[in-house]
Amino acid sequence: MSAKIVVVGSFNMDLTAYMERMPRPGETVSGRRFVTGPGGKGSNQAVAAARLGAEVTFVGRVGQDVFAESALNFWKQEGINTDYVVRDPNNATGVAPIWVDDKGENSIVVVLGSNLAMTQGDVDRAAEVIAQADAVIVQLEINYDIVEYAMQVAKAKGVRTILNPAPAGKLNAQAVALADYLTPNETELEVLSGMAGTDYEAAARSLLTREGQTAVVTLGSQGAMWVNPNGKAIIPPFKVEVVDTTGAGDAFNGGFAVALGEGKPLEEAIRFGNAVAGLSVTKPGTAPSMPTRAAVEALLARG
Ligand code: ATP
Ligand code: RIB
Repeated sequence: MSAKIVVVGSFNMDLTAYMERMPRPGETVSGRRFVTGPGGKGSNQAVAAARLGAEVTFVGRVGQDVFAESALNFWKQEGINTDYVVRDPNNATGVAPIWVDDKGENSIVVVLGSNLAMTQGDVDRAAEVIAQADAVIVQLEINYDIVEYAMQVAKAKGVRTILNPAPAGKLNAQAVALADYLTPNETELEVLSGMAGTDYEAAARSLLTREGQTAVVTLGSQGAMWVNPNGKAIIPPFKVEVVDTTGAGDAFNGGFAVALGEGKPLEEAIRFGNAVAGLSVTKPGTAPSMPTRAAVEALLARG
């Protein structure tokens, strides 16, 4: 049975310029290539999950502009349920100008527009589909009170919640406590926990305030580390040729959610997430770089 995943989150049109190296302040450099493509952490995670065979519903807001049309066409093509996407009359669709250098490193500016206009009513309309989900995923490109509310609605129905606290932000402790799984990268972990340094285990542990919570810290080319009251371990990444790491965290979250939704145990779900993310960094772009289920299974089998 395919996993049922609900993503409550953002869409941004990614405006990506590829260049040898990023400009310093005040400097102009020549770009090699420019690509417009679908992005936004929420949508990227939804696309990752859909390509892995999950039944995916996206709950979010876009504007009434050309980027919104493009988003809706893209989601249709990916088989994602858009019944709970609102066309906001007052705000433009989110955009994200992105720079990617020849090492595959990225810098992003997000202009969140309609993503920030989401309301509790938007979530309430999707309550029925949330109740039937195997996992609900949220990120921090929508208002924090909506992040918290979406997890509240899911928890009230006994549905597993995954909080990807990205981009880095200081979410209140009450909201963090609603997450069954927290999936920060190193920077997000530092901001959320208020603990700087490399003791990721201690920082992750400080976020776990109730029974049943697990932190999974993504460590880029080092893989991912889980931490919960039963212990901790680092699950190594797959060796791949890096082209563009933008959206790696989104690929991981989409994969991790699907694996948990399918009933895989924690370490297997993280390995699955590592495989999805590992494949995504071998291709340019964010949502367009999400791999198929067949490619992920082949990588897992290769080891
Ligand atoms: P982004 O913000 O670029 O979307 P992130 O900072 O949220 O990414 P990372 O921790 O950098 O997320 O990476 C997420 C996952 O992607 C890692 O846990 C790992 O599985 C995979 N990954 C990232 N970089 C590499 C790499 N160089 N080689 C293999 N896997 C990688
Ligand atoms: O995680 C990558 C995403 O962050 C990009 O698609 C961009 O839209 C920003 O939201």
